[in-house]
Amino acid sequence: MDGYSPFVFSDNDEFIVIDQRFLPQIRKVKLENLNDTCIAIKDMIVRGAPLIGIVAAFGYYLAIKSSSNFDELEQLSNLAYENLLTTRPTAINLRWAIESQRSLIKDNAILPVEKIIKKVRANAFGIFEDQKKADYKMAQNGILLFDKQMRILTHCNTGSFATGGIGTALGIIKYAAQQNLVKEIYVDETRPYFQGSRITAFELSKENINYKIVNDSACGILMQKKLIDCIIVGADRIAKNGDVANKVGTYCLAQLAKLHNVKFFVAAPESTIDRSLNNLSEFDIEIRDSNEILNVNGVHLAPDGAKALYFAFDVTPSYLIDAIITEKFIYRPDFEL
Ligand code: MRU
Repeated sequence: MDGYSPFVFSDNDEFIVIDQRFLPQIRKVKLENLNDTCIAIKDMIVRGAPLIGIVAAFGYYLAIKSSSNFDELEQLSNLAYENLLTTRPTAINLRWAIESQRSLIKDNAILPVEKIIKKVRANAFGIFEDQKKADYKMAQNGILLFDKQMRILTHCNTGSFATGGIGTALGIIKYAAQQNLVKEIYVDETRPYFQGSRITAFELSKENINYKIVNDSACGILMQKKLIDCIIVGADRIAKNGDVANKVGTYCLAQLAKLHNVKFFVAAPESTIDRSLNNLSEFDIEIRDSNEILNVNGVHLAPDGAKALYFAFDVTPSYLIDAIITEKFIYRPDFEL
């Protein structure tokens, strides 16, 4: 259960990613430079908070690798930082990964440029490897919360396609299934991108793990009928007090879970915690192009001229969360991260 690889970065720097917009169909895209990387993140060819960070780190390397002196290196580094930072605003992992690349360059200014470039390449692989290790540790920590065979609901895609490893929330679910700790997995569709029915379901199928896809709006009836023991989701950003920004719909699930006495767990690497924010009450939510709601694969789903409002994320206040699982700890309320 090593997961499915969402990208390959070869010895000769060929960077190929799976275009996640078409999954479960496999289409591949080659990223040759900074611009390709920015488009891939912005247009959701690659997605998922940790994976966005990893892809940005490799894109950073592509952006600076041709530098012939330190001035040029610094200039290209700043350009990469500024362009990548604005591609997707919610996932803190993106900023974290590119800050790591930028400071590596600054901290090694005394070295020959070729050596710094090699370090930047190695750092991208390092960020990727660390994420894979963190995923396993999260899975090991996560199953400590399973006191019986669980019936689980999950939202969005938090698996290999979101991290490059076994995943965060989905990593826990896969690992628990392997340990025979899972009775039922409900995968919600996660409109409008269908990360649940297209990507999470694809991963579970590949691992021969049984699941059922449910429409997003069925979460209420599922809980009312007592078909769910716990909900496990990922996170794009977590504040110091445990407030969680995650794929839109998470907040509705958390509210309903509280009402129906269903446990609500969040799984994310430590790199998703933004300790510069005390809470997320003022957090700016990414609003994406309304066409992404109004069209699915080129098919228009509303009357001509219809307007839409597409918040891509929401904030779940920490009082609705029973535990936050990272590779280091299981944090419990009252959260002080
Ligand atoms: O818009 P996306 O698909 O990039 O959304 C981000 C996410 O993958 C989810 O919000 C997820 O739950 C957190 S990332 C493991």
